[in-house]
This record gives sequence, structure tokens and C-alpha cells, in this order.
Amino acid sequence: MCPPDILNQDLHGRRAIVTGANSGIGFVTAKQLAKQGASVTLACRNEAEGRARADEIRAEVPNADLEVRKLDLGDLSSVHAFANGYLRDHDSLHLLINNAGVMNTPQGKTVDGFETQIGVNHLGHFLLTELLLDTLKKSAPARVVAVSSCYHDKAMGREGVIVLDDLHFENRKYEGWVSYAQSKLANLLHAKQLAKRLEGTGVTAVSVHPGWVRTQLMRHTMPGWIQDYVMRPILSMMGMVEPWEGTQTTLYAALAPDVADHPGAYYSQTGTYRDKSKNAGGWPLESPNPHAHDDEMAQRLDELSRQLVGLEAASAHQAPEAAQPAGS
Ligand SMILES: NC(=O)c1ccc[n+]([C@@H]2O[C@H](COP(=O)([O-])OP(=O)(O)OC[C@H]3O[C@@H](n4cnc5c(N)ncnc54)[C@H](OP(=O)(O)O)[C@@H]3O)[C@@H](O)[C@H]2O)c1
Repeated sequence: MCPPDILNQDLHGRRAIVTGANSGIGFVTAKQLAKQGASVTLACRNEAEGRARADEIRAEVPNADLEVRKLDLGDLSSVHAFANGYLRDHDSLHLLINNAGVMNTPQGKTVDGFETQIGVNHLGHFLLTELLLDTLKKSAPARVVAVSSCYHDKAMGREGVIVLDDLHFENRKYEGWVSYAQSKLANLLHAKQLAKRLEGTGVTAVSVHPGWVRTQLMRHTMPGWIQDYVMRPILSMMGMVEPWEGTQTTLYAALAPDVADHPGAYYSQTGTYRDKSKNAGGWPLESPNPHAHDDEMAQRLDELSRQLVGLEAASAHQAPEAAQPAGS
């Protein structure tokens, strides 16, 4: 758990974006940051749901400074529209929490033709981060937190690797867990490479594993009612925790002063790793996946991601006009 002084830090005057803030870990992260006084942008694929969840936060935190903006990470034009809208209305950003994600989805493609999990979990966040980077630097000290997973190491028995020349499973058989592991390893390497690029700027990038948390993430693996009702006592005994507990690592990575001394590090709640001695987690933890320490891979992924999201030809994906904030 986060030490109380971190959860009592005064965040007035600090601006945060939380992706996937309408559900699970993202919702609790947004609520806690708002409780501490931060101005929080809930970046949600479904604006109506985002607004409903913002109202829930306001019911608990009457002075919460919130806005809801549409962000579909599976559509680069939506990422551009989100960033344009945000930057039109705000000139600072202190915390970017790249939290949204999907897991073990059936084979599919994003609007831009990327495999769904690498597209949503990594490439959408990659573009978002790039578009907000100058503002993060201007606002330093600032943080970028990538919500990765212990499954970057091993997901249901499949070791996490990034196949740079077949990121989208065009020449290999698609498997949902292999794809999830690839996308979560990409989150970790993204934070690592970003940290390198941001050296000396006062912006710290890190990645986290939140633990095994009772959220909607399992929707493509097990019906929610089985997880939440039928199996809940057994799953809880096996280590599944509630969203508040599962938000602690993100909050620590976003707020703890000592995190600035560990740029690019991976912070882990308890997890399942190939090396069982790592299962207790660590803030930070050295990943047992050798690819997580492959600097050349991190750099090549960075270059490929840049190319895939069209940063060299940014105008190709530029939204015609900035999206309006959906609520305030
Ligand atoms: N729960 C765990 O045990 C666990 C363990 C390790 C890592 N994680 C990581 O934790 C993060 C948060 O997941 P969670 O457990 O809180 O699951 P969740 O309750 O399913 O929340 C995921 C969020 O991501 C959003 N999202 C999905 N696709 C999106 C898209 N195309 N564009 C924008 N937003 C999108 C969802 O929006 P919709 O509601 O519109 O779908 C939802 O708000 C994920 O990155 C996940 O990989 C979770």
C-alpha cells in the first residue's frame, strides 16, 4: 500500500490525464488524484460512461476538478483530436497515466489496421505521449506512468516477446495471450526508452504492474458475473484484489518522490513471474524477462512505433478539428 503521506499530498495546481478512467484501476486512480486536489481529465472511449463516472466522483469529492474527454486509443485520429483539444484548453500536464487497456481479445484490428492489443495498449498510448511530451516537459517535474502487467514476462504460460517484423500477427498464428504479453512488454519498454529520451528534463517515465485486480479486464476471458459473484471468494483467496488495492502501485509511481530517482524502472505489486522469487513484487522490481532489459529492442520499438503512428507524416492522421471537451 502507498504510505499515507503520499495519499495526503496536496495536488492542487497539478494537472493529470488518466486514460481508461471510466473503469477499474483508471477510475480509482482518477478519483484519488481528484481527492488530493489535482485537476483530472478522464480520457474515455465512451464519453457518456465517463460523465457518469465523473458524477460518481463528484458525489464523493464535491470539489473535484474534473473534465471528461473522448479518447479512443484504437483510432489515431481520435488520439490526435484528444491531444489537440487538451492542448487548446490547457497549457500544463504533470501526470500522464497511460492506464487503458484490453486483454486477450479475439483477433481484430484497430481503425488504423493495427492488431487490437498492440494498437490499443501500446501504439495509441505511444502517439498520445508524443503529442503531449512538450507540455509535460514544460510542466516538469512531471511523470508518465505506463500501466503494464506481470504478463509482460509470462502470460498464461506464453513468454513475453516483441516480434518487430510481425507485430500484428500477419505471419504467425494469433493467440490472445501472446499478443497481450507482447503489448505489455511494449508498455514497459516504452517507459524505459522514454526515460532515456527524457533524461535531464524533469519528466520521469516508469511502468507498473498493478497486481491481479477485480476489474472488467477479464471480459474476453471469463464473464464478469463469474468473476464477481460465482468465483469471487476463490479468486480472492488465490490473490485477486479489489480496485483500491490495485491502484496503489500506479499512485506510488505517479506521486512518490523517490520514483524520480528510478527513471525507466518497473514497479510491481505481487504477480506471477517465471522466476518465483519475484512474485512478491517490488517498488521497483527488476523484471525477469531478458527482453525487458534489451536496450536495442526498446530503441527499435520506439522507431517502429513512431513510423506506425505516422509521426513522420503527422498530417496524415491529424483530426480536422479539435474535439470539444465532453463535460466539465
Ligand atoms: N486487472 C488486472 O488484474 C490487471 C493486471 C495487470 C495489468 N492490468 C492493466 O491495468 C490497466 C487497467 O485495466 P483494468 O484492470 O482497470 O481493466 P478495465 O476495468 O477493463 O479498464 C480498462 C479501461 O481501458 C479502456 N479502454 C479499452 N479500450 C480502449 C480504447 N480503445 N480506447 C480508450 N480506452 C480504452 C476501457 O474503456 P471501456 O470501458 O470503454 O472498454 C476501460 O476504461 C490495463 O492496462 C491492464 O492491462 C490490469
